[in-house]
Amino acid sequence: MKKVLVATEKPFAAEAVQGIREVIENAGYQFMLLEKYASKVDLLNAVANADALIVRSDKVDGEVIDAAENLKLVVRAGAGYDNVDTEMAKAHGIVVENTPGQNSNAVAELVFGMAIMAARNMYAGTSGFELKGKRLGLQAFGQVGRNVARIAKGFGMTVDAFDPFCPEEVMEQAGVTPVHSVESLYSHNLFVSIHIPATPQTVKSIGYDLITLMPKNAVLINTARKEVVDEDGLAKALEDRPDIKYVSDVKPDNADFLTEKFAGRVFFTPKKMGAQTAEANINAGIAAANQVVAFFKEGIDRFRVN
Ligand code: 3PG
Repeated sequence: MKKVLVATEKPFAAEAVQGIREVIENAGYQFMLLEKYASKVDLLNAVANADALIVRSDKVDGEVIDAAENLKLVVRAGAGYDNVDTEMAKAHGIVVENTPGQNSNAVAELVFGMAIMAARNMYAGTSGFELKGKRLGLQAFGQVGRNVARIAKGFGMTVDAFDPFCPEEVMEQAGVTPVHSVESLYSHNLFVSIHIPATPQTVKSIGYDLITLMPKNAVLINTARKEVVDEDGLAKALEDRPDIKYVSDVKPDNADFLTEKFAGRVFFTPKKMGAQTAEANINAGIAAANQVVAFFKEGIDRFRVN
């Protein structure tokens, strides 16, 4: 009997866990659950006899892969798979998949929670500004960016996007203006919302030069990965441009320094919570479970990333 381990340091909503269990057990497989584990050893022990592993942002590195002798499939229930060593998995004959789009509305809604928070001066009681009529730049127009654009229209915002991997027609059909350089995106938009993945090419790619191109009173919103922002460059930009705000899901490594030095201009979530809704958990978790079943029963690996 195949064994499917769900290992989530940050647990799914209970309804999502129940749904995943049903999909796995209805397929005739054994469901195993490891939630809120305190140490990596717990994960190493739990994965030892698993055939498939479903994770969120949990680190699946070489040590985990080495510990998992039977493992054939890792499904990252979510979009970004920078937490999985995809090359190491490949070398061990393990397929890695993600579940693109399943949690993107949750992340997009959080973008607006953070945008309003920044525009209203972190709810400090002072006079802020409205989103209506303002310009929003999307750095990447994937699933999350598209949901952000949809919601932005409801606020009456004008939306630009920069995404060299997305056809311009896709943006235009969504009522979004394509821009042709990242510099142009940062120069012309009061809000910029980051939606690029963390890759060797994108890590630390957003720094002083880009941030300081932003117009007066700009807000930079990062619900992607903290690693794509160069923290030293960000700190210098916030120093030189006292009008700029930075809000991020999740806190950067220099969060304490930034919070102390730029109080009222920065906000960070303590844990990554863009996808932390019941709906997103259910969508991504059950999609992951269905992908596990489709993989073992029919050899389907449509969302393979390695
Ligand atoms: C993603 O890449 O899908 C999001 O960052 C969600 O991550 P999480 O599952 O850890 O909340």
